[in-house]
Amino acid sequence: MIAGKKVRTLLCVLILFGEVSLASPLSSQGMRGTIRKQSFGKTASGEQVDLYSLTNKKGMEVSITNFGATVVTLRVPDCAGKPADIVLGYDTLQGYENGKSYFGATVGRYANRIGGGKFSIDGKEYALPKNDGNNTLHGGIIGFNKKIWKAREIASDDAAALELSYLSPDGEEGFPGNLSVKVVFTLPADRNELKIDYTATTDKDTVLNLSNHSYFNLAGEGVGDILDQMMTLHAKQFTPVDKTLIPTGELREVAGTPLDFNRATVIGKRIDEDYEQLVFGKGYDHNWVLASGGGKGLTVAAEAHDPKSGRMLEVLTTEPGVQFYSGNFLDGSTGKGGKAYPRRSAFCLETQHFPDSPNHPNFPSTLLRPSAVFHSETVFRFSVK
Ligand code: GLA
Repeated sequence: MIAGKKVRTLLCVLILFGEVSLASPLSSQGMRGTIRKQSFGKTASGEQVDLYSLTNKKGMEVSITNFGATVVTLRVPDCAGKPADIVLGYDTLQGYENGKSYFGATVGRYANRIGGGKFSIDGKEYALPKNDGNNTLHGGIIGFNKKIWKAREIASDDAAALELSYLSPDGEEGFPGNLSVKVVFTLPADRNELKIDYTATTDKDTVLNLSNHSYFNLAGEGVGDILDQMMTLHAKQFTPVDKTLIPTGELREVAGTPLDFNRATVIGKRIDEDYEQLVFGKGYDHNWVLASGGGKGLTVAAEAHDPKSGRMLEVLTTEPGVQFYSGNFLDGSTGKGGKAYPRRSAFCLETQHFPDSPNHPNFPSTLLRPSAVFHSETVFRFSVK
């Protein structure tokens, strides 16, 4: 046992210093990324949906479906080179059609919550369907996570990429303006990272907040809880919420609270402390105000590490906030391979603008005008440590 651990640690160190390569030798075709397309079945209404698998030569594989622009599997090696799928999800399209947890999905038109299901632009009020008590969550009843996106494969010498686009019609789920959205997922040939690029334009003033809702368990999906995994969040403040998880408008210092993750901290260490915000969230389910402020190029927002497998995830973003959600609402329902996903068996790091921004003028604006092009980037970068 001890010897096994020593060997594993040595292997990790060798890999870290580049002495051992996890990748197979480069083929004569060079580093070219590959994309494989297969059918993911038909929706209940008979529409064809596909699954695209992107692979690189470093042992990483990501599969994405154009249903909900959803990351279905994400395989990365551990420190002994053994790959595992580290995102929660379903084996079938039906799982995603019926699912209520937003596994891996692109969430929008407004990721996270809008309080009271309403907001105003220039004095005109818009009412949205409420799907989370009195609030609107992740775009409403049929958000972007349930839409079929148009796919275009982009394979180049240095990456495999999938472009997914969707036209959200004026008035869809109560939001104004025809919104044209494009999400590009890129897997570089020579690095284990998934880059997500979001672009959008509108023909009427609207509000917009886009995110990816992958649920990570760095030990592998369906392998216990994430309470022993470590989290770092580069944020000095967070946005406290009321008991329905709508921000009060305050920006509160994390210092001295169980929400201070400026130093890597075991997720489970303080999660059940008697701190009102943790009681409201039933654990962590808050927006951290990133120190970068957003909009200044890609900066590191968060780092997560599983000491057992050695897997390390770094999240970089151009967004001003990140929702760290500790999977508090997972209830043991089954996912891939019939495995149960109990409470806190995964975490999400949803890069975003702050929840309910349309109702908080002191938050960075989520207003998109027809004259502007929305652009946002997030990278999930993997390594071993
Ligand atoms: C977000 C929310 C959570 C929860 C999940 C989906 O992360 O902040 O409260 O609704 O989505 O279950």
